[in-house]
Amino acid sequence: MSMSNDIKYIGVNDHVTDLFESQYPIKTGVTYNSYVVMDEKIAVFDTVGEDFADEWFANMDKVLEGKTPDYLIVQHMEPDHSASIDLFAKKFPETTIVSSAPAFNMMKQFFGCGYEDRKMAVKEGDSLNLGKHELCFISASMVHWPEVTMTYDKTDKILFSADGFGRFGAPLKDGCCAVSPEFEDEPWADDARRYYIGIVGKYGVQVQNVLKKAAGLEIETICPLHGPVLTKDLGKYIDFYDKWSSYTAEESGITVCYSSVYGHTKAAVMTLIDELKAAAPDTPIACFDLARCDVSEAVASAFRYDRLVLATTTYNMDIFPCMKDFINHMLASNFQNKKIGLMENGTWAPKAAAVMKELMEKCPNLTYCDTIVSIKSAMNDANRDQIKALVAELA
Ligand SMILES: Cc1cc2nc3c(=O)[nH]c(=O)nc-3n(C[C@H](O)[C@H](O)[C@H](O)COP(=O)(O)O)c2cc1C
Ligand SMILES: [Fe+2]
Ligand SMILES: [Fe+2]
Repeated sequence: MSMSNDIKYIGVNDHVTDLFESQYPIKTGVTYNSYVVMDEKIAVFDTVGEDFADEWFANMDKVLEGKTPDYLIVQHMEPDHSASIDLFAKKFPETTIVSSAPAFNMMKQFFGCGYEDRKMAVKEGDSLNLGKHELCFISASMVHWPEVTMTYDKTDKILFSADGFGRFGAPLKDGCCAVSPEFEDEPWADDARRYYIGIVGKYGVQVQNVLKKAAGLEIETICPLHGPVLTKDLGKYIDFYDKWSSYTAEESGITVCYSSVYGHTKAAVMTLIDELKAAAPDTPIACFDLARCDVSEAVASAFRYDRLVLATTTYNMDIFPCMKDFINHMLASNFQNKKIGLMENGTWAPKAAAVMKELMEKCPNLTYCDTIVSIKSAMNDANRDQIKALVAELA
């Protein structure tokens, strides 16, 4: 697939993997993007997962028409992009491997070979001239691995952004790929948010640094390693990244996450939601049963909106496991800057609210509602009053 006269897309669509990185459900798949710049010198950007190597090589062969690539540029060593490096290196023994110094160490670890005889280690500020195209390397260390490098093609004003600006999802239509305009026109934010918050969320500071560098570049196209190549309205995507990486809510709204064993906590949550809807009819409310939802959807929603309600049962003087898991995911993504409401249930010694608050202590800048809804087995009139008070604080 052509992106321009001399830049071709050779990536693959993955509709086979059920869980990305063994934890994120990907109902509409994911793409592993790879690009070839056909200049006086030929450069290939990134490989693909091992299961897709044959398809990737077939795509590459069509573009190369018998030529040999001069460079393989490795921007990221996570195996979804790097697993086929060694196969590539064996197929093209003359090709120079271009990557960051830490990436070559990782190649040694993954493949037992750091390609000493043909490696070109690059760092921030280095560039590589292919003839017409001048590629400038930008360190994106810890977005979200230490070796990550992004690449700016000065000639065509393209930012090859590694995992940055990637999203879950692959085109469902036959013959469509990451550069198909209809794929770019699909909704982007939900799959990109879930991808970003889950995988990169912890590294907001590092993403902010890269955004500062990108602000100094004239960018007409963003080529990520997952999801559509972005050509239109790029400010929109940069805006999302700015919000996510600065831990700023995207919009006013309330996420409600609960777990319930016998249904009484759930009943209280439903009462809360009914009253929230009545008190603030225009406020979006997203509700998740943590035992049954994809936790990455719940976490992404908690980042999206400015308020979060957590409701769970006391469980062996602790909290229900799926709520604990949810909070651990939130901590892993560096959750912060939100208003929190707490609801708990316990039949003999309710303790869940205190446990949740203690677990979330590591999250900076959370403001807690004064009211805690504390239920003993089933909602009573006092609980209904507490819910009204919590709604007044949240709405
Ligand atoms: C395995 C298990 C452990 C529990 N441990 C506690 C506990 O330590 N303290 C407590 O007050 N209630 C405990 N409970 C009781 C529930 O928290 C309580 O019945 C609650 O009302 C259930 O709310 P639900 O109807 O929303 O499931 C436990 C329940 C289960 C199933
Ligand atoms: Fe990655
Ligand atoms: Fe990736």
